[in-house]
Amino acid sequence: MTAPEPVLIADALGRDYSVGGGLFSQAQTVRAVAETSFTLAPGRTLAVVGESGCGKSTLARMVTLIEEPTSGRLVIDGTEARPETWASLRTSVQIVFQDPYGSLNLRQKVGTILEEPLKINRPELSARERAERARAMMELVGLRPEHYDRYPHMFSGGQRQRIAIGRALMLEPKLLVLDEPVSALDLSIQSQILNLLMDLQERLGLAYLFISHDLSVVRHLADDVIVMYLGRPVETGPKDAVFSAPRHPYTKALLSATPSADPQGRRERIKLSGELPSPLAVPPGCPFAPRCWKTQDKCREERPRLEGEPHPAACFFPEN
Ligand SMILES: Nc1ncnc2c1ncn2[C@@H]1O[C@H](COP(=O)(O)OP(=O)(O)OP(=O)(O)O)[C@@H](O)[C@H]1O
Ligand SMILES: [Mg+2]
Repeated sequence: MTAPEPVLIADALGRDYSVGGGLFSQAQTVRAVAETSFTLAPGRTLAVVGESGCGKSTLARMVTLIEEPTSGRLVIDGTEARPETWASLRTSVQIVFQDPYGSLNLRQKVGTILEEPLKINRPELSARERAERARAMMELVGLRPEHYDRYPHMFSGGQRQRIAIGRALMLEPKLLVLDEPVSALDLSIQSQILNLLMDLQERLGLAYLFISHDLSVVRHLADDVIVMYLGRPVETGPKDAVFSAPRHPYTKALLSATPSADPQGRRERIKLSGELPSPLAVPPGCPFAPRCWKTQDKCREERPRLEGEPHPAACFFPEN
């Protein structure tokens, strides 16, 4: 059997932002994401984890074509993202944000919210067909028929996230980017939404790029994991391998801060020394060196490549 064609290929993606720059200061460049490569197959979940500011949302915005990469290449469902293909690709990849309040139009009823993407992208459909599809979607995401005429503020956070997921699925995308989709929800609601996502993935064969800083959530549903640090992947691999035998000290530290995510249930918490460096002043060499307990001279001089067995890690002195 040949492996299915990936729905997403990211090849050395990078995104820089120019910040500051005014009368008295020079503009500086933030490398929000650099040299990030991965592939994602249909029906699979790739989780992106890392501390605040490591570039997760920037990556999400590039993959969903909200923002253009500064460097690298993106292939979605077999088509390379270029200015000519952007418009058509935008419908094959959709995004769900952390805060459905911010992402839903509060003046629209649920029915209207769900039908809007069809109105814009499927002009051949009649109003009745649109309504039928919206109602079918409501059932699929666990909303009741009478919700069709209600406004987002009349719902709980979990139900609002169901609306956001439903809207994202209206154009039948193959790839869904989920940027912290349950982080704003109560724990009990979180698992309902995660179960819904897993159920939808199985039924529709969706691929998920799942962004989360919560490793216990990631452990629940990821197939593969990318650990990011200051805009770069520092470890990637199958979830079980990364979680049970982390190779990068940073991954180990992250896992130790989430005992429930650690399959071996290690309780010993690794305390990182030092602060996360400013993204404007990323140290030369290994970006993690200033906080790492294994640092040697080489780490301060040279940037380690993402490589090695059994799965790649960007570290000169990896675990195992
Ligand atoms: N529009 C922008 N202009 C300038 N800098 C930006 C912009 N967007 C993001 N950044 C910077 O890029 C880096 C990555 O930000 P990003 O929002 O992708 O991180 P994140 O991993 O999603 O963080 P969080 O977990 O807090 O959501 C940060 O240093 C951020 O300040
Ligand atoms: Mg973010």
